[in-house]
Amino acid sequence: MSAAVVWTPQPRQRDFLARSEFEALYGGAAGGGKSDALVMEALRQVHIPHYKALILRRTYPQLSELVEKCRKYYPRAFPGAQYNESRRQWNFPSGAVVRFGAMQHQEDRYNYQGQAFDYIAFDELTQFTWEQYSYLFSRCRPNGPGTRCYIRSTANPGGVGHGWVKERFITAAPPMTTIWSELSWTDADGRRCFGRRGRVFVPARVTDNQALLDNDPGYLLTLASLPYAQREALLNGNWDSFSGQVFTEWRDDPAGYESRVNTHVIAPFRVPEHWPVWRGFDWGYSRPFSVGWYAVDPQRRLYRVRELYGCAGQPNEGLRWEPEKVAREIRRIEGEDENLARRHIYGVADPAIFASETGESVADVMARCQVYWDRGDNKRLPGKMQVHNRLAFDQSGAPMLYVFNTCRNFIRTVPALCYSSSDVEDVDTAGEDHIYDELRYVCMANPVAARARPGPWTVRL
Ligand SMILES: Nc1ncnc2c1ncn2[C@@H]1O[C@H](COP(=O)(O)OP(=O)(O)OP(=O)(O)O)[C@@H](O)[C@H]1O
Ligand SMILES: [Mg+2]
Repeated sequence: MSAAVVWTPQPRQRDFLARSEFEALYGGAAGGGKSDALVMEALRQVHIPHYKALILRRTYPQLSELVEKCRKYYPRAFPGAQYNESRRQWNFPSGAVVRFGAMQHQEDRYNYQGQAFDYIAFDELTQFTWEQYSYLFSRCRPNGPGTRCYIRSTANPGGVGHGWVKERFITAAPPMTTIWSELSWTDADGRRCFGRRGRVFVPARVTDNQALLDNDPGYLLTLASLPYAQREALLNGNWDSFSGQVFTEWRDDPAGYESRVNTHVIAPFRVPEHWPVWRGFDWGYSRPFSVGWYAVDPQRRLYRVRELYGCAGQPNEGLRWEPEKVAREIRRIEGEDENLARRHIYGVADPAIFASETGESVADVMARCQVYWDRGDNKRLPGKMQVHNRLAFDQSGAPMLYVFNTCRNFIRTVPALCYSSSDVEDVDTAGEDHIYDELRYVCMANPVAARARPGPWTVRL
């Protein structure tokens, strides 16, 4: 690098900086040069006087690393750029502003109400919830003519947002491929409008960052010596494994869908008539509700054969159906699904649906529609242990819980759950945990003992 050059992107950073989609995620392994690229991208339009950028971390203390990066680069790239400590913002000679912000609590997103930013950047996106990320979309709009408005993020696997980030950017398409969202809406004159918006995932590897490896040749060894889940995530950028994941036993192996060996996900089959069926329910209105049907084989093994998940298409956003509508849909499914029709079904639900302080309870309304529930056992840690007991594989590679591969929302949300930072033994309830809750009620109603000797696949750390 010549003395006059402040910062030169490395090839993978160049790929990230060249993307033209509205959203781009630069993600994967640690140390790839992601945060550097994110803060440098913020400078692209600082010559425009009304340009405003916002760079976010989940908490203010976490921002200090980014502030230090900017101190290193910004004044040299733009002499006259000044950092205002109390306002946490850089002021550029043109009048442009690059601000730092945080959203520790869910509601903190409203602190940005009424504000507009041309560039919004999330560092460590998996630390944020979908609600926080998507709310900031409405803040991404120009403050004047001639700017481009877009969102950029970085992430490592793991964290409370792991599930939705993986679904939105990683599993939706191969890396470096534009993923299109088709949008439609009705304008003020009642006309139907259509449009589409693109997003993309740019994978990061530590080996992309020659600058880091030159400074610290031992960094690869540091990552290689981490425990399995952390190493897979931070060294190899593996999104199926991350530290803080609760159900590390989980396996979804298409090679086992027919044989049902060493996998929890299997191909659907016709359930024998004499197997009992359980139906679990977690109620939600503005958050998703979840109904899961589980057939029980003679060995008391559960098979999640069908799901009805009340999600409005965006992660963790409920359909806002009234209880009566949910009950009618349950009746329809139980009349039509060949694995459920003409069977006795035992319902077990979130005990909160029996609360009737504000009038008729959810359980009462559903009973009027001939959908009946028993009170589920909501003890959280015993419920979690029951799920672990059922996920453990025996010596022949068979668990006590299988999931039909048609239960897409279960497969998306349950493996993504992570531990709470306030109660390190329990699942973080800020994640999308409705299907997990419904599963717990069914497992607690059908308890199994822990395996005496764990099977080969339970040892993953
Ligand atoms: N193009 C570059 N030129 C010089 N140094 C760079 C460049 N890109 C990154 N670095 C340096 O490499 C180190 C790691 O980069 P950075 O912090 O951006 O990585 P990261 O992917 O965000 O890491 P983490 O996963 O830990 O958040 C930093 O010291 C950074 O300044
Ligand atoms: Mg970083």
